Amino acid sequence: MLEIIGILGGGAMGRGIAQVALQNNKSVIVYDVMPNAAEIIIKHLTATFDFLMAKDKITNDQKNEYLGNLKIVDSMQKLADCDLIIEAIIEDLQLKKTVFNDLSKVLKSAAIVCSNTSSFSLTAIASAYKDPSRCLGLHFFNPAPVMPLVEIIPAYQTDPLLVEQLKAEMTQWKKTPVVAKDTPGFIVNRIARPFYSEALRIYEENLATKEDIDLAMRQIGGFKMGPFELMDFIGHDVNFSVTNSVWQATFYDPKYKPSLSQQKLVEAGFLGRKSNRGFYTYGADSNVQNLESTPMEKLKPIFDRIITVLINEAYDALYWQLADPEDIELAMTKGVNYPKGLLAWGKEIGLENIKSRMDALHNAYKEERYRCSQYLSRYSG
Ligand code: NAI
Repeated sequence: MLEIIGILGGGAMGRGIAQVALQNNKSVIVYDVMPNAAEIIIKHLTATFDFLMAKDKITNDQKNEYLGNLKIVDSMQKLADCDLIIEAIIEDLQLKKTVFNDLSKVLKSAAIVCSNTSSFSLTAIASAYKDPSRCLGLHFFNPAPVMPLVEIIPAYQTDPLLVEQLKAEMTQWKKTPVVAKDTPGFIVNRIARPFYSEALRIYEENLATKEDIDLAMRQIGGFKMGPFELMDFIGHDVNFSVTNSVWQATFYDPKYKPSLSQQKLVEAGFLGRKSNRGFYTYGADSNVQNLESTPMEKLKPIFDRIITVLINEAYDALYWQLADPEDIELAMTKGVNYPKGLLAWGKEIGLENIKSRMDALHNAYKEERYRCSQYLSRYSG
């Protein structure tokens, strides 16, 4: 039984994961290096539980029980009794490896040691721990208490039994676990790339405005937000760095090449909603338009192009067996709220249509970026 959960890093993700574990009646120990960590983390979680109480989601007794099961510690040694460790420190590979190496001196041999990394190789992180077979990726989505998806990513060295054990544990935590290969971006952050990159490409080529691209994806596709709204919401620093890391980690596959216009926003500090300016402007000078008057004939080709490249990417993930088809569908609907699974969406549109649209893009641009997945080339006919 995994009773005592240790969390390294009490930032946005670490706190969210702590909340999930507490609400599943676990004892939680958080270790963070920031000064006043205890004060800050307890304040945050108390405010969260107060909010849930005000909404009648939890009782006062539950709140007290959860906070009673939470310990914030000031040294890694105090994680010694943990059954499951979830590392959620800043995204820095060298630092993560140092932390895994340090944990080697602290943890019992039966401990399961996970990283919440969004972009690094679990195989590389696990190699820093005394027994890499006990390490794997456990990737929550932001905000962790709200998003059901958790990607479980075995490293090259991981004992396969741990994957099953974590799947059962995450199901108990009322999460939706999927298993992903240890490849750049895992499932969600890889398959979702064209949602942003194709939108940016259409915008940079001046084939459509950002407003029309957003509208096309919302109105025709049923996505909750268009690509530009969503990038502004996520933050361009975060979104750009995920794209950049997937691109670099795939040995610069042109499919994932980052966009210059997004890089400019990052350089300018126009990071999106959090800085009141990204592609759109927010606050008093807001230029967010809700005009829904663009004719359908203009929106349809925009939607067709973006959904085609997305579906191609999902079938490519299937071709390379990055995950089971059911997990690919769950990942996109439960991790990033897509209105439908992309594999099913492809069948609805017709795989031969997706293939011929990809081939048309490839012929028009003569760029590797638009190569059709082998899956579609082989099986769509
Ligand atoms: P954050 O910056 O909010 O929090 C990181 C925390 O780690 C800070 O409180 C910092 O003081 C602490 N920390 C730094 N070095 C430490 C060390 N050596 N030992 C203990 N604590 C240390 O970062 P955030 O957003 O919570 O991300 C954490 C991890 O989760 C990263 O690996 C990130 O890639 C991943 N992730 C982030 C998502 C997001 O949307 N923010 C989504 C999914 C994964």
